[in-house]
Amino acid sequence: MSAAKRLAGEKAIDYVEDGMIVGVGTGSTVTYFIDALGRMRDRIAGAVSSSEQSTERLRSHGIEVMDLNAVGPLPLYVDGADECDPHKRLIKGGGAALTREKIIAEASERFVCIIDPAKQVPVLGRFPLPVEVIPMARSLAARAILAATGGQPVWREGTVTDNGNWILDVHGLAIAEPLVVERELNQIPGVVAVGLFARRPADIVIVGGEPPQLL
Ligand code: A5P
Repeated sequence: MSAAKRLAGEKAIDYVEDGMIVGVGTGSTVTYFIDALGRMRDRIAGAVSSSEQSTERLRSHGIEVMDLNAVGPLPLYVDGADECDPHKRLIKGGGAALTREKIIAEASERFVCIIDPAKQVPVLGRFPLPVEVIPMARSLAARAILAATGGQPVWREGTVTDNGNWILDVHGLAIAEPLVVERELNQIPGVVAVGLFARRPADIVIVGGEPPQLL
């Protein structure tokens, strides 16, 4: 799949304009986008990053990484996804960066999502849904998620997010109403962010291939 990821990541460069501050996601597909961005680093003003991993790679290309609080709304956010449905709603967080990804997506005028074809699904939920939780709320949140969705939360043991929190991956879901599930899970005390991007779906999806397909 890495050829498809590279084709999607490089196609997203079409949406980058001179002087932009670009929002940058996390993951293997985004790595191709960052590398392509590096080749045009003199034409952009900088980037806002969704993870320590992406920050490191952006800086390795000489791209300035800026604080979202200092730059305000962004014109463009480019990020990958773990699943994408026909309405451009997403599951994200396989790389544990969902909270910062959600913040940047919300702060951006245009969200361009870059995926390989295997990420396309009719209904979200085959990929276990990541939920970031405050560590002391792990058991309480797991019980509440089970009660609300019927899905089985599994602690991603050993993973600590960039924000110092933990991840529960919710298995066995078929999410018919992503907006409702996103809202309900967001209300559980101790839940920091839910890896469902339904309230703020992607605006454009690039599916990597020869040629890349636009949704
Ligand atoms: C990171 O937390 C995720 O949201 C990624 O965007 C997602 O896991 C896609 O990753 P890949 O591009 O590595 O498939």
